[in-house]
Amino acid sequence: METITDIPALRARLQCESAIAFVPTMGNLHDGHLSLVRLAQQKADCVVASIFVNRLQFLPTEDFAQYPRTLADDCKLLQEQGVNVVFAPDERDIYPVPQEFLLEPTPLANTLEGEFRPGFFRGVMTVVLKLFNIVQPQVAVFGKKDYQQLQLVRAMVRQLNLPLEIIAGETARASDGLALSSRNRYLSSEERAEAVRLHQVLSEMKRTVAAGNRNFPQLCRNARENLAGHGWEVDYIALQQRDTLAPARADDSDLVALAAARLGKTRLIDNLEISAGA
Ligand code: PAF
Repeated sequence: METITDIPALRARLQCESAIAFVPTMGNLHDGHLSLVRLAQQKADCVVASIFVNRLQFLPTEDFAQYPRTLADDCKLLQEQGVNVVFAPDERDIYPVPQEFLLEPTPLANTLEGEFRPGFFRGVMTVVLKLFNIVQPQVAVFGKKDYQQLQLVRAMVRQLNLPLEIIAGETARASDGLALSSRNRYLSSEERAEAVRLHQVLSEMKRTVAAGNRNFPQLCRNARENLAGHGWEVDYIALQQRDTLAPARADDSDLVALAAARLGKTRLIDNLEISAGA
């Protein structure tokens, strides 16, 4: 595995590759990221993973400086996983001058996560487009854990005619169902035990919808009350159409339940795809 930090060297290294599968990350890797790498390995012989903590997607209230940077450990994991190239640029490589061109995403970016983290998706889409331009992959893998990000990247690729395919990786979970996330490390042991409730309320929604309940607002209220009753501060619980992430209507069949809530100081997000069926 080669670790490359500057753009000309990366371009020179990738020039001879006919098919590249790309996994963009902000580092601090866990098995969820590695499952995306494994998916990428099924799609192309050359897998590139990037590690870059993107200042543009942090709000002024979020602590960019404190974001865990674990490059040596990350590279070890990626090497063990058989990644071909790690692209780990410095900030001055990605943003050599102040980034004044920003990619304005669709209005979807102002809902759900975007409502609570204004500007977040503008920062994400801008860096993802830059990384696509630098790596020029044929395939890029994004996790369903960040479902709204995945759908916005898909919309960007479609609307900007980018010549690559977006592949979605399933959310990796701990044995009790908690979605793997770099943020889980901030949970105390009591919070860790409680954190699984987020997955449980989404699973309950899934069961109830599968059983024929179409009162979506009520299902969301029940889930919210369950979390709030156990000390969570809920940002949103929503049942949306899978592709557009518009609010689900009673006759929609491909749905996704999405949630974001804070347990103590840690904000967790999760989602579950739901097939309402006939
Ligand atoms: O999902 C992430 O880790 C980040 O949002 C991404 C896609 C690497 C862009 O910084």
